[in-house]
Amino acid sequence: MTARILDGKAIAARLRAGLAARVAALPFRPGLRVVRVGEDPASGVYVRNKDKAAREAGFDSATLHLPASATEAELLATIAVLNADPAVDGILVQLPLPPQIRTEAAIAAVDPAKDVDGFHPLNAGRLAAGQPGLVPCTPRGVMHILAEAGVALRGARALVLGRSQIVGRPMAQLLLGADCTVTIAHSRSRDLAAECRRAEILIAAVGRPGLVRGDWIAPGAVVVDVGINRLPDGRLAGDVAFEEAAAVAGAITPVPGGVGPMTIACLLENTLDAAIARRG
Ligand code: GUN
Repeated sequence: MTARILDGKAIAARLRAGLAARVAALPFRPGLRVVRVGEDPASGVYVRNKDKAAREAGFDSATLHLPASATEAELLATIAVLNADPAVDGILVQLPLPPQIRTEAAIAAVDPAKDVDGFHPLNAGRLAAGQPGLVPCTPRGVMHILAEAGVALRGARALVLGRSQIVGRPMAQLLLGADCTVTIAHSRSRDLAAECRRAEILIAAVGRPGLVRGDWIAPGAVVVDVGINRLPDGRLAGDVAFEEAAAVAGAITPVPGGVGPMTIACLLENTLDAAIARRG
């Protein structure tokens, strides 16, 4: 068997085009502010890509760049100004932050109604309570891919590999909300391969290149690879050994060109949702 390739780049392009059309029909421009602190080079690339995608879709987007020496109080003051600005619908504080700033403090400072990352404890709690507000972008993007692929979720055995606040936990909540039978496995799980082999839907989000081998995958399973790992030779690799997995799976996302493009598209979707919720 050779798996169907789930083309996240194409799905993201369609989603962005649809969002751009909805933004163009609004009497105002939804506002997004991305806050970057310091000089982490990967963050620089991510922030530029987010800003560019937002502008292309018609959003009022800007990046605020604080120096690596910025204090926690300075970042919180910046966030407070954005919270109070009626033209700002979405605020994203790019992670990682420099060590003198507590990540939880920055996340908790963002107005939950403008928390387009979906990381604020109120939004995490709402998702866990089955009353989702703003939902983290990457898991939201995975749900779009599964929907576009026509994957039947009700009653399906889904395995989420990874338990991060950003992907694994919210991913499991979304799948549960869609009536999957959900298992979360992680680095301390006893037999990862056996857990994976039981899954009809496998979401890999551990950040370990090639961890999931072909013989870990049930024939015909849907495999979504969230991992974006930079190899020593500069290439990108997912958490799944792609060639091996594609020979067994029914459908699979590539890296790059799978989940990655969906994350930015869903940031725009969250910003539009936040704008409509705030401004009607
Ligand atoms: N750094 C890596 N991924 C993310 C993300 O999804 N949101 C933010 N704010 N920072 C990140």
